[in-house]
Amino acid sequence: LRIAILGYGNVTRALLPLLERDARFEIAGIHSRSRPAAPDYTTFLDQSRAEVLVELTTLNPYTGQPAIDHIHAAFARSMHVVTANKGPIAHAYHELAAEAAARGLKFRFESTVMDGAPVFNTFRNNMPGVRVLGFAGVLNSTTNLILEAMERGGSFEDGVRYAQELGVAEAEPSFDVDGWDAAAKAAALANVLLGARITPAQVQRRGIREVEPEALRSLRTQGNTIRLVARGRNEAIEVAPEVLELSDPLATGRGTSNVIIFETDLMGTLGVVEINPGTEQTAFGVYADLVSLLEPGSR
Ligand SMILES: NC(=O)c1ccc[n+]([C@@H]2O[C@H](COP(=O)([O-])OP(=O)(O)OC[C@H]3O[C@@H](n4cnc5c(N)ncnc54)[C@H](OP(=O)(O)O)[C@@H]3O)[C@@H](O)[C@H]2O)c1
Repeated sequence: LRIAILGYGNVTRALLPLLERDARFEIAGIHSRSRPAAPDYTTFLDQSRAEVLVELTTLNPYTGQPAIDHIHAAFARSMHVVTANKGPIAHAYHELAAEAAARGLKFRFESTVMDGAPVFNTFRNNMPGVRVLGFAGVLNSTTNLILEAMERGGSFEDGVRYAQELGVAEAEPSFDVDGWDAAAKAAALANVLLGARITPAQVQRRGIREVEPEALRSLRTQGNTIRLVARGRNEAIEVAPEVLELSDPLATGRGTSNVIIFETDLMGTLGVVEINPGTEQTAFGVYADLVSLLEPGSR
């Protein structure tokens, strides 16, 4: 399978070793802003003669662009698309999925939520006929680290610094702290699994700025904690800090770990836990999506 890659950042660098040792894949080229392989990305796609575009450019949570345009351009050239960029799924999932279907192409995006841990593929591959009724997830690592640091006696700023040292938080952490990252993931989950048509701005969103360290420590003595939880059910999609019992599955993720629980019609309640993920897990999700394109009859 000939692969063109847009974006040459952390995920692409972690993906390359996986592709290089798999003879089924051939890298046609890599194009990024500062390392252009052609005057513009459309020329790059034309020249690549690739069968699939791997879209790994920077997330724009407010518009999903220019990644949405990149994906349309690939479909227009009869290329399948695999992406880890949640912008397009949070902003344009239905139009992109419909375009892929109309052209007989495949569109895969497992790593957009919880990296390579199977979230979308759990339902696609393992639970045919199951309908998702709702979800609740602790999906943002930076806020987890900040809340844990405050529980240990530190301040909000200590938690932000710790998350930055681990390379998880941006220099300006508002995207995580104000719940935008979790809202983008909630929108992606709702669009794909609940059939909603929602963008991150339409998610009811409250971040963790108002959580007081003293309140967290006193909750802890009562066997409770606070986590930033993304919930979706019917039309109600929201992100907010919630008080949880320590024994609640949503409260059990430590460090950068993520947890999601699904309510379904035929399979009751089930969850996926990802322990301390990094870019390797994101790259794996992209690789697994690429492998799935090779399977005969895969949708
Ligand atoms: N890191 C993770 O573990 C993780 C987890 C889940 C999902 N993701 C998603 O995966 C994607 C890639 O993440 P990353 O960590 O690899 O990001 P990154 O290290 O910031 O790299 C992003 C790359 O995209 C390129 N780029 C940005 N805008 C572009 C444009 N308009 N045209 C061409 N190239 C462009 C950048 O080029 P320049 O450097 O030349 O500007 C850079 O090479 C993001 O959407 C991210 O949200 C990442």
